[in-house]
Amino acid sequence: MSQSNSETARAGRIVAIYPGSFDPITNGHLDLIDRGARLVDRLIVAILQNRSKHPLFTVEERTEMLREVTAGFSNVEIDSFEGLLVDYAARHHANAILRGIRAISDYEHELQMALMNRRLRPETETIFLMASEDNSFISSRLVKEVISLNGNVSGLVPKTVEERLRQKLQLRKEG
Ligand SMILES: Nc1ncnc2c1ncn2[C@@H]1O[C@H](COP(=O)(O)OP(=O)(O)OP(=O)(O)O)[C@@H](O)[C@H]1O
Ligand SMILES: [Mg+2]
Repeated sequence: MSQSNSETARAGRIVAIYPGSFDPITNGHLDLIDRGARLVDRLIVAILQNRSKHPLFTVEERTEMLREVTAGFSNVEIDSFEGLLVDYAARHHANAILRGIRAISDYEHELQMALMNRRLRPETETIFLMASEDNSFISSRLVKEVISLNGNVSGLVPKTVEERLRQKLQLRKEG
């Protein structure tokens, strides 16, 4: 076979997009990235730029944090996008979307999105991974809520993320 640059040209090669807000990345996201990266050839973690949401961290800050904590994975890249996920997937010749399921509450919403995405672009298959037991209760929203009330979030987010959260919220470290 020729050494073509066409990323998905080789049969059986899986290029997956893992889309999300990652505001900020949690250990739950990281676990999904770790397990997902073993399954696929190339994993693009893509930060969704949603103008209607009011994120705590800018896209640049979220990108930096994601880059720091995924530096050890050779087949993982960090990017961001606006607009339809399937259009972004098409631009990157991706044939899979990676998503996580924590609880029944995730399932409904995830199923609806997966079916819509399949309708919009059948070539892209959504792959779901179940959250690990230890991480199944972690969400970015809850982490932000707990730390803003001075609760302990160690073990829920990477250390560097915890520090940035404290800086952002100008909280002092207890103890
Ligand atoms: N702890 C976790 N374990 C497994 N999958 C997760 C976990 N947290 C998020 N995910 C999955 O990652 C994807 C992106 O999620 P998202 O960006 O909404 O993160 P989030 O933590 O739910 O943030 P927010 O609280 O802002 O909604 C979704 O498929 C979501 O189900
Ligand atoms: Mg969410």
